[in-house]
Amino acid sequence: MAERADIDSVRTVYETVHEKLVSAGRTHDQWGLRHGFYEADVSEEAAATKRMRDAMLDRVELDAEDHVLDIGCGFGTSSIWLADTVGATVTGTNIVRDQLTIARELADRRDVSDAVEFLEDDFHRLSIDESAVDVVWACEALCYAHRIERVLAELDRVLTDGGRLVVADLFRVTERGRTCEHVAEFENCWKSTIAHRDDIVELLTDRGFETTVTDVTPHVRLTIERRYRYGLSLRPLQRFRYNLGRCDETDVEYARGLIAEHRAVDRGTLRYFLITAERR
Ligand SMILES: C[S@@+](CC[C@H](N)C(=O)[O-])C[C@H]1O[C@@H](n2cnc3c(N)ncnc32)[C@H](O)[C@@H]1O
Repeated sequence: MAERADIDSVRTVYETVHEKLVSAGRTHDQWGLRHGFYEADVSEEAAATKRMRDAMLDRVELDAEDHVLDIGCGFGTSSIWLADTVGATVTGTNIVRDQLTIARELADRRDVSDAVEFLEDDFHRLSIDESAVDVVWACEALCYAHRIERVLAELDRVLTDGGRLVVADLFRVTERGRTCEHVAEFENCWKSTIAHRDDIVELLTDRGFETTVTDVTPHVRLTIERRYRYGLSLRPLQRFRYNLGRCDETDVEYARGLIAEHRAVDRGTLRYFLITAERR
């Protein structure tokens, strides 16, 4: 079981980001919670964020009969979209109450509240019944799994026979067990715990899933570069403010983390993958 403190530190990161963005007058759709999927015809951030959902949907068979579990659902945008466009029944889970409140409001506005429910639930210990869902949707959620084997056991438990899993996320690709300074800085910024690609594949295979793994790093590269440039411009300012006592350590770590992600990808220690798994 993940330590309570691990979950609390992730929750605090998102609550802090939430407060800062609200006080800066930004609305949920202006918050880049995840990477975009860029292609020849997609260069705008909002369109790229949507394209990531398309890329995930392309890799998993889904129809109106399916019950989808969207773990780490953020503001519920994927959950709502899946209910709206595919007609699926969706359960979105998150540990951040403010995000869930916005998710419920957005579902209401979209008129899909009957098809989507949002639960305050940690994916290390889901309050969902055994064999209750057909598809697990995990868009940049597993990077917060402090105990990946525990989370995969939970997903295995809640999936039906023939259940499927689709994942979009960053994974380590270096020699297993080897530490990388930049990955550690990136993790420290978001309080994430990034698994090794081979570990997740092995754990899924051991549980009887057949997996496909696609490296899509070139498609998310623009997000990483934008964050890097922002981090570079932010870091001196945050250091200055920190020295004056005008911001705290987390603000400095945030700027450092944005830079570190780029460096880790550049050095080939971190890559972005789309992974699907289906019970054999
Ligand atoms: C990078 S955001 C991705 C949000 C969403 N999946 C999307 O695609 O927009 C990660 C989300 O995972 C949530 N999260 C982190 N740890 C979690 C946990 N243990 N259980 C449930 N949700 C979690 C965070 O609160 C946040 O909403």
